[in-house]
Amino acid sequence: MKKELIDKAKKVLNANYKEEGFTIPCEGLYPFQWNWDSGFIAIGFAHYDMDKAKKEVETLLDAQWGNGFIPHIIFHNDSDTYFPGPDFHKSDLHPLATKKYKTTGITQPPVLGFVFKELYRIAKDKEDILNFIKTEIDKVFENHKYFYENRDPNNEGLVYIFHNWESGTDNSPIWDSVWETMEKDTPNYKFERRDTSHVDASQRPTNREYEYYLHIIEIAKENNYDDAKIAELSPFLIQDPLFNSMLIKSNEALIDLYGIIGNNEDKIETLEYWQKKSISNFNKKLFDDELGAYIHYDLRNNKPIRMITSSSFTPLFSNIPNKNQASVLVDTIISKFGGEDKYLCASFDPEHEKFNPKKYWRGPVWINLNWLLYYGLKNYGFTDIAERVKSDTVELISKCGFNEYFDPRKETYKEESVGYGGNNFSWTAALLIDLLKN
Ligand code: DGY
Repeated sequence: MKKELIDKAKKVLNANYKEEGFTIPCEGLYPFQWNWDSGFIAIGFAHYDMDKAKKEVETLLDAQWGNGFIPHIIFHNDSDTYFPGPDFHKSDLHPLATKKYKTTGITQPPVLGFVFKELYRIAKDKEDILNFIKTEIDKVFENHKYFYENRDPNNEGLVYIFHNWESGTDNSPIWDSVWETMEKDTPNYKFERRDTSHVDASQRPTNREYEYYLHIIEIAKENNYDDAKIAELSPFLIQDPLFNSMLIKSNEALIDLYGIIGNNEDKIETLEYWQKKSISNFNKKLFDDELGAYIHYDLRNNKPIRMITSSSFTPLFSNIPNKNQASVLVDTIISKFGGEDKYLCASFDPEHEKFNPKKYWRGPVWINLNWLLYYGLKNYGFTDIAERVKSDTVELISKCGFNEYFDPRKETYKEESVGYGGNNFSWTAALLIDLLKN
């Protein structure tokens, strides 16, 4: 059964791999290269085809801009199955954008640092992978430098995102209060959605939400994607616990890898400086004692967004909480997300009125978040609950296939076992391979 599942997962990945050296997340729905998808996909490939794993990250890094920025989508090819495409994003408005590829002008959670560490962990030939990492690692360092120098206006060690697509958790209820502030100024744009021709509209963001998404990018474009202008003008400016956890875990990985490579004391010193400030302010600013979870902070409107999502637990993956905070997080996971009637881990608080178990990031289980949670819980010694996250993950995929997301309510599978969103989704396959191989 385990071997059969791994074989199926490999088939999904191999079918989504493109000869240009990258893997699409999902046929039709996401027909280009996506930033953090590529990172997770490389971890899956590393278990059986290290050349493809290397190629995946190498291709992504080849699209890095002159200022260290790494885009969220690389449009290697034309496709009319996705909106909004390169003609909308117009990333070439930025003077340092790559000339080699069309890309977006927004980014995604910075996973590459820890992905390199994972490739190193998984590789049998350590010398070969280290040689590869040596050629690429400075690009990731430059990317972190970009974040700390351009996305941290108050010098807190906590970087902001200026778009919900940068968070990866596109339509989370977390953003609803921001949309309210944008309601008056957001026009009705004329556009044709493509996602809802692949996936039932009830599982995707609404049209009005898409207008907010487009409007933020219009503002960024009017300012040629200039970071200082965006910090001043964007209605969406959020310190996101998931995004910052990924950056912090990647800092830690870069420190370790530079240590193994040697002769990089200055970079290690810089990384340690960022890391100390980031972790300390993360705990001061984003831990909500009363909710028992980490939360998002709205930097534009100067207020915390006090809701619990699966992002709230990702600091476990990045060694951010102290032992006491880690136990509080586990209590919250068990009491709110982990009832007998549910699969771990819903992407939004199942007890909240905005919980929607079918709609994208407003409730469904996502495999990349489960993967982060599994290693985070294991990391702090919460082995039983970690194992439950793993077995729930395997059970959902065995029942439904390699979907993009899954209903957390067990009762929905009594009649029929179906997952939601795209099918044959690459990171679902890639991370299942990693979980089963460990
Ligand atoms: C989409 O189009 O829904 C993507 O998630 C954006 O990155």
